[in-house]
Amino acid sequence: MINIILMGPPGAGKGTQAKMLIQAFNIPHISTGDMFREAIKAGTPLGVLAQSYIQKGDLVPDEVTIGLVKERLAQKDCANGYLLDGFPRTLPQAEALEKLTEELGAPIGAVINLDADKAELVRRISGRRVCRNCGAPYHVDTLRPLIDGVCDICGGELYQRKDDTVEALETRLHHYYEDTKPLENFYRERKLLINLNGLTPKDELFVQISEIFKKVDQK
Ligand code: AP5
Repeated sequence: MINIILMGPPGAGKGTQAKMLIQAFNIPHISTGDMFREAIKAGTPLGVLAQSYIQKGDLVPDEVTIGLVKERLAQKDCANGYLLDGFPRTLPQAEALEKLTEELGAPIGAVINLDADKAELVRRISGRRVCRNCGAPYHVDTLRPLIDGVCDICGGELYQRKDDTVEALETRLHHYYEDTKPLENFYRERKLLINLNGLTPKDELFVQISEIFKKVDQK
């Protein structure tokens, strides 16, 4: 069973890799960021609440995020594995997930930690454009679509995320170094942490992560 966490700072390439991996391994992609953005788009009470944090680059409160993930992992399609992207991001979230996976009798098999230097993260995030329809990520310099402003995959409109501003990114990076990076120790102690270089070209990185998925699946 493949129960894997993709961890790393904003712009490390989590979403890019997750989109390729879930197709190759046929498991659900559980991205708390995507779930919040869907709720914002739908105008639900969760979306209204989440937006007030996300647009400033702050973390959505733990009790809200943990509740959302608990509900999602209880769904049938997670029974044979899942890829968590952007969760956990705080120690209480990591502890809650550990308790939940113990209750479900299906522990996390690996935590893949992508990293890159701050200058590259800023370059990637400030130039990122995302498809409004399917969420595919592009970059204004290094990953341009065939037609300007149009998604190659589904023809959807490309836009810049509201939290991809310089100010919000500073806050997101601050939360990453303060709240999320300490989780590396949490997972290192549990012998689950695997560090990979997020600067690796995306197709090469995909091959490296795929090898880890195969090993976890064989355990
Ligand atoms: P979320 O959506 O999870 O954002 P994030 O973690 O900040 O990560 P990003 O989506 O910005 O980056 P990524 O690593 O996926 O990079 P990508 O692949 O797109 O969360 C958003 C917000 O929601 C949070 O700030 C918070 O407010 C809230 N939230 C979410 N989860 C929460 C939680 N658990 N608790 C509390 N609040 C939560 O790539 C970026 C760019 O780089 C793209 O342009 C891409 O083309 C390019 N790129 C990718 N890989 C490569 C490569 N290998 N080489 C060159 N370029 C590359």
